[in-house]
Amino acid sequence: MELLKKIDSKQAKLGVIGLGYVGLPLAVEFARAGFSVIGYDVDAGKVAQLMAGRSYIPDVPTEHLAEVVKSGRFTATTDPTKLSEADILDICVPTPLRKTKDPDMTYVVQAVDAIAAILRKGQLIILESTTYPGTTVEVVQPALAAKGFKPGVDFYLAFSPERVDPGNPHYQTKNIPKVVGGINQASTDAAVKFYEQVMDTVVPVSSPGVAEMVKLLENTFRAVNIGLVNELAMMCHRMSLDV
Ligand SMILES: NC(=O)c1ccc[n+]([C@@H]2O[C@H](COP(=O)([O-])OP(=O)(O)OC[C@H]3O[C@@H](n4cnc5c(N)ncnc54)[C@H](O)[C@@H]3O)[C@@H](O)[C@H]2O)c1
Repeated sequence: MELLKKIDSKQAKLGVIGLGYVGLPLAVEFARAGFSVIGYDVDAGKVAQLMAGRSYIPDVPTEHLAEVVKSGRFTATTDPTKLSEADILDICVPTPLRKTKDPDMTYVVQAVDAIAAILRKGQLIILESTTYPGTTVEVVQPALAAKGFKPGVDFYLAFSPERVDPGNPHYQTKNIPKVVGGINQASTDAAVKFYEQVMDTVVPVSSPGVAEMVKLLENTFRAVNIGLVNELAMMCHRMSLDV
C-alpha cells in the first residue's frame, strides 16, 4: 500500500480537524516526529494564537509549538480546503451531550462533510472524538462513501479513542496505549502504522465498534470510581476521618 510507504518515510502529511485538548497535542507530537501537519479549526482566534507560536493547552509547552511553527512542520488554518493536501485526516472535534443527554453529533458531521468535500483515493480517515459505539460505521462511513468511493479500498477508515488524562504527569499522548479499530484489515494496518510513528504502544482491535466500546467502558469505569470516592469522602467527613 502506497500510504504505508509514505508513513514509513514520514512523507505522509497529517491533517488534524479540531485543535483543542485532543487535537493540538496530537498535531504537535507528529510535527515534532518529523511529519508535516496541517491543523484545521473553525476558531480563527485559536488559529491566530497557534500561528503566533502560543499554546493555549497546558499539556503542549509553548516552546514545543513555537519550534514546529517556526520549522514549518505545523501550520494552522481556518480553510478546510487545505485538508486536501493531507494523506491522513484525524477528527478531534467536540462531542458534547445535548440537554436531553443525547450526544450532539453536529461537529462530527461538519468535520466529515469538510473531509468528504476534499476526499481523494488512498486517504486514511480516523475518528478520535469520544462517541457512542456504532458512529464510525453508521455515521462517518456512509457520508464518505456517498462521494462514490469504496470504503476500505478507495479510502481507509478507523476509530481510535483519545484517552488523554489532562494534567496527568505520568501519562501523555506518547505513552498512553493507543487502541485502533479499522473497518477492514487494510484500514487497521494503516492506522496502526501511523500511530506507531509516535506512540509507544499501539493496540489493534477487531473493529471500530470494539474501539468505541473500549472508550465507553473506560469513561464509565472512571465515572463509577469518581462517584464511589465522592460517597466515601462524604462518609469520612461525617466521621472526621481524612479520606
Ligand atoms: N479533553 C479531554 O480530556 C478528552 C479526553 C478524551 C477524549 N476527549 C474527546 O475528544 C474530543 C475533542 O475534545 P477536546 O477536549 O479536544 O475539545 P476542545 O473543545 O478542547 O477542542 C475541539 C476543537 O474543535 C474545534 N471545532 C469544532 N467544530 C469544528 C469543525 N467542524 N471543524 C474544525 N474544528 C472544529 C473547536 O473550535 C475546538 O478548538 C471530544 O469528543 C472529547 O469528548 C477529550
